[in-house]
Amino acid sequence: MSRQKIILLGATGSIGLSTVDLISKNSERYDVVCVVANRNAEGLAKAARRVQARHAVLNDETELDTLADLLKGSGITVSGGRQAVLDQCAEPVDLVVSGMVGAAGLEPNLAAIGAGSDLALANKESLVCAGKLVLDAVKRNNVRLLPVDSEHNAVFQVFERSNADHIEKVIITASGGPFRHASKERMRAATPADALKHPNWEMGARITIDSATMMNKAFEVIETLHLFPLKPSQIEVVVHPQSIVHGMVQYSDGSLLAQMGPADMRVPIAHCLGHPERLSVDAQRLDLATLGQLTFEAPDAQRFPSMRLVWDVIDKGDGAGAAFNAADEMAVSAFLKERIGFLDIVSVVEDALGQMEARNLLSQPSSIAEVLHIDGEARRIASDIISTI
Ligand SMILES: NC(=O)c1ccc[n+]([C@@H]2O[C@H](COP(=O)([O-])OP(=O)(O)OC[C@H]3O[C@@H](n4cnc5c(N)ncnc54)[C@H](OP(=O)(O)O)[C@@H]3O)[C@@H](O)[C@H]2O)c1
Repeated sequence: MSRQKIILLGATGSIGLSTVDLISKNSERYDVVCVVANRNAEGLAKAARRVQARHAVLNDETELDTLADLLKGSGITVSGGRQAVLDQCAEPVDLVVSGMVGAAGLEPNLAAIGAGSDLALANKESLVCAGKLVLDAVKRNNVRLLPVDSEHNAVFQVFERSNADHIEKVIITASGGPFRHASKERMRAATPADALKHPNWEMGARITIDSATMMNKAFEVIETLHLFPLKPSQIEVVVHPQSIVHGMVQYSDGSLLAQMGPADMRVPIAHCLGHPERLSVDAQRLDLATLGQLTFEAPDAQRFPSMRLVWDVIDKGDGAGAAFNAADEMAVSAFLKERIGFLDIVSVVEDALGQMEARNLLSQPSSIAEVLHIDGEARRIASDIISTI
């Protein structure tokens, strides 16, 4: 069997490291053409060596010399800069694993799709900002879009496309994060350290804060709509604190098919890497008798207004999605720097959306340039709002 050619974006992050682990344990299957990170030279050098990549790219060139030094004698070549990232993504390979964080992942993902490479997508922001453009490109280039996000990967595993007419609804689960039962007062006083304590998953800072505000689940509702042929009214979010059931599909005969697994991203990533085959993963096996109980509850849109905002964003389309994500990126970053409080995060996003709408800046983007324009305007407006807090 010839080895599958892979590009790994975000190789130093949480998704990236889980992917590195799987690839290094299945090295006979994969030939890593390139690994990419932002500026973490040490982490990238380590990842490149572990997967025996041919090439390593840093988006930010500041630490490029360090990367070159760290990889001296390894035979792994290096390059730097945004254009180098895009050039690598434009090289056709079998699969690009997209584990970059933020809207910065959109153009590399589109370059990969344009090159005819299949995409294993963790970077949900691309779908939130520009779902229609991404999906159109996927269709045009006839590539596979495999969902890495655990909820979407779960739904993907139990979604019978041949019976799509018989699907009543899709349910994605949310852990509820560290403030599942916290009062508004408690949330108002929450520090970055409090919000970064996710009860079940170990993830990058941005998605961990987004889990605490449930913005992450709002993004995932939008992601679900792009990945599966559904109407908004067919998507439900349910809080499931154990994070064992990740996604479910309800059929017209009353069957509810669920995918379950440990809270270990290597499981959905392996599903994408191996698809349509299964890989062996040394993840923990579920012991249901020990687990005892699986519980489910409705999300509280009162304490988590992201769960209310998302439906309006969906109504307005991808322009609103791009602003929703960009304002959140700014607000999360300000919260992590202790510039604003925890409850301010979603308020900043809501306020920025309102101002964008009032200025007619939320129209459906028909090109990447338009998405980037909306993204830039939303960042500017969010930053102004943050400076007044
Ligand atoms: N972590 C999870 O369990 C999980 C689950 C589902 C979905 N996701 C999604 O997966 C994506 C990654 O999340 P994560 O938790 O792995 O994030 P993370 O730990 O913060 O890692 C982010 C990665 O992206 C790289 N990066 C950031 N900006 C970049 C740029 N402009 N150009 C090139 N590389 C860049 C970072 O490089 P440096 O290290 O050099 O900064 C790092 O490798 C997000 O979209 C997230 O929503 C994550």
